Amino acid sequence: MRTILVTGATDGLGRELARRLAAGGDRVVVHGRDPERVRRTRDEAGGTTEGVVADLAELRQVDRLAEEVLDRFDRLDVLVNNAGTGSGAPGSGREESKDGVELRFAVNYLAGYHLTRRLLPLLVASAPSRVVNVASAGQQAVDFDDPMLTRAYGRQRAYAQSKLAQIMFTFDLAEELAGQGVSANTLHPATYMDTTMVRESGAPVMSTVEEGTEATLRLIDGLDGVSGSYFNGRREGRADAQAYDREARRRLRRVSDDLVRRALS
Ligand SMILES: NC(=O)c1ccc[n+]([C@@H]2O[C@H](COP(=O)([O-])OP(=O)(O)OC[C@H]3O[C@@H](n4cnc5c(N)ncnc54)[C@H](OP(=O)(O)O)[C@@H]3O)[C@@H](O)[C@H]2O)c1
Repeated sequence: MRTILVTGATDGLGRELARRLAAGGDRVVVHGRDPERVRRTRDEAGGTTEGVVADLAELRQVDRLAEEVLDRFDRLDVLVNNAGTGSGAPGSGREESKDGVELRFAVNYLAGYHLTRRLLPLLVASAPSRVVNVASAGQQAVDFDDPMLTRAYGRQRAYAQSKLAQIMFTFDLAEELAGQGVSANTLHPATYMDTTMVRESGAPVMSTVEEGTEATLRLIDGLDGVSGSYFNGRREGRADAQAYDREARRRLRRVSDDLVRRALS
């Protein structure tokens, strides 16, 4: 039985993934920020599930989540970094996490960055294992002069920057883990699925949660030997150019490690 941690499993794509994986016989670790929503998701999913709770907008909680997973589970076959906050309602402004980090960057990217790094020993011990980062086709280069977007905030820009950062992290991770039996891939699941974040943003719904679920399950289940790839739905795709820029990825790692160190010190 595989053990699969899905973050943000209490709504949208994550909830459907949890349901499908539990129905298929996997042990699913359902993550959410609200214990009641986690309980409800587990009840609805059936099968073998466990619950973990953490608000990803606070790195201390991310750190505690990692600690709990390392304590409670003897293996981790797949980590799905799915939790995310969308671009927000039209007209909404800049927000920060509990650590003072721009909120989209914090929840969509930095939380998964830290969680994954903390869980690497378990993933390596469980090899062959996988990291699947749910990113987006909405991508925008990180401006290293103002990564926290204090000067020119745009809600879509904030979302797109955080999603490209996830992809850059995935490419680094794949290189780092080469030869250790842990793959790292990332994807745009589907365009404007009918989920809470899309409805809140005012964008027109264009695809179903099932479409995104199929594309994500493909990375969770299959594609042996593939690592360091970005998929647009079911097809391998090309991410924004910055993702292939090693110097930009090095700068992103430095920014990320500084933010994590500061938040946890
Ligand atoms: N929808 C699309 O068309 C689309 C397209 C491309 C990529 N994506 C990506 O797909 C992933 C899933 O999105 P979705 O459309 O399924 O969105 P969704 O229905 O809004 O679900 C988002 C999930 O993330 C959780 N979450 C949000 N902020 C959190 C925080 N601070 N701490 C812990 N959990 C938090 C939510 O928890 P609650 O249940 O407590 O709110 C929920 O479980 C995201 O990474 C998104 O960027 C979506």
